[in-house]
Amino acid sequence: MADVKFFYGDDVPLEMHKVRIVQKLNLLPVEQRWEAVTAAGNNTFLLQNRDVFMDMLTDSGVNAMSDRQLAAMMEADDSYAGSETFTKLERKIREIFGTEFFLPAHQGRACENILSQVYVQPGFAVPMNYHFTTTKAHIVLNGGIVEEIFIDEGLKVKSNHPFKGNMDIDKLLALIEKYGVDRIAFVRLEAGANLIGGQPFSLENMRAVRRVCDRFGLPLVFDASLLADNLYFIKKREESCKQMSIREITRELADLADIMYFSARKLGCARGGGICTNSKEIFQKIREYIPLYEGFLTYGGMSVREMEAIAVGLEETMDEDMICQGPQFIAFMTNELEKAGVPVVTPPGGLGCHLDAMAFLEHVPQVQYPAGALAAALYIASGVRGMERGTLSEQRDEEGREILSNMELLRLAMPRRVFTLSQVKYAVDRIIWLYENRRLVGGLKFMEEPRVLRFFFGKLNPVSDWQAQLVAKFREDFGASL
Ligand code: F0G
Repeated sequence: MADVKFFYGDDVPLEMHKVRIVQKLNLLPVEQRWEAVTAAGNNTFLLQNRDVFMDMLTDSGVNAMSDRQLAAMMEADDSYAGSETFTKLERKIREIFGTEFFLPAHQGRACENILSQVYVQPGFAVPMNYHFTTTKAHIVLNGGIVEEIFIDEGLKVKSNHPFKGNMDIDKLLALIEKYGVDRIAFVRLEAGANLIGGQPFSLENMRAVRRVCDRFGLPLVFDASLLADNLYFIKKREESCKQMSIREITRELADLADIMYFSARKLGCARGGGICTNSKEIFQKIREYIPLYEGFLTYGGMSVREMEAIAVGLEETMDEDMICQGPQFIAFMTNELEKAGVPVVTPPGGLGCHLDAMAFLEHVPQVQYPAGALAAALYIASGVRGMERGTLSEQRDEEGREILSNMELLRLAMPRRVFTLSQVKYAVDRIIWLYENRRLVGGLKFMEEPRVLRFFFGKLNPVSDWQAQLVAKFREDFGASL
């Protein structure tokens, strides 16, 4: 049995909050779900939310907010310059992260845009534990090269490595040797490495990365968007940190970085973002970009109401009762699926539960987008909306050839404190049903394929009439039920 404080029985997570505001959900009959996904070109990004039962597309901007956050939003101080709300947020960030300077931005990718413009020049490399889509796009746009130096275990679907998001220090040293210090823009470490399944890095690993940065005089940039989950995993999985408080771990992580940035759509459970640093020189270098791209220095494109909510949300992130919720629900879902033999990424990470579509649909070739096909099939089977993270999310090379992704994942994000355990159990049941009927699921082919960001806007058709067969089997097994 795991931690008795937050579990009861045998690994059943316990909600450490009560629900006081609710939103009605619709569960359409299977035939209508099929129609809706067809109208969306089998692309879950193009579904209407009213047609979705459980929205597991992302945890970005859709985490449940607390009563205290909502209350704080009522006292926001709206002014273009010198807003009291900004001062409050700046103070909270200084208190929690110990960073003197805070540069607000409208969301995480805005920070990436600015950092890339400031630091990346053509031919410069940016070593990182793993890329995120928007991070990579901004670095590449400025002529930079993304170098991923995850540990070998990082891409293993089935693993019991507690920190699959760690950076490989030997590979970092080799890259510095290859490019030379002058052609490395910065080293980037991402908390809860998103695209490999929300996998954390350890405090020990970040200390080791820092030592290398110190040795070569390289800046360390820390993407703290998924910090909450990573903090929880450090506390639970890293022996030397078990006696540390969440606040102490946070402070040490922040101290190790030269620049920290985050998406407050994830960290702080609101909407916004920003860049923190202790260096006046860095602050002054970045500062001029904020009014140009984001807004004046005391709001940076954020609504003051959101800034109030972020200040409270960051404080709440220091509470283990709060940050345990995402990882524990994800662990429950992952473990239940694994028990039923469904291929999932292990150990359970943060952000969401990740299905291994390459194994789930081993009969679907990668050029027919197994993760995309699984996303469409799961929506038909359940009304659950996930996000394809595989070949469909890549871009073709210059000759128009497919770039096959390392992993074909269907990400089922777990917005924090949003779903009840029975809803999660429902999703598990339907996924198991789909797994039992996986042979009915076929691939997809493009009907409309945009050249860039095709996963957002592209439309696809099934390669055969497999969806009709899936709906027929659903009716056979579930009768008149939804
Ligand atoms: N870094 C990481 C690790 C992220 O997961 C995200 C966003 C960003 C940066 C960009 O932040 O969305 O505020 O501009 N991830 C979202 C997701 C989009 O669905 O995983 P943003």
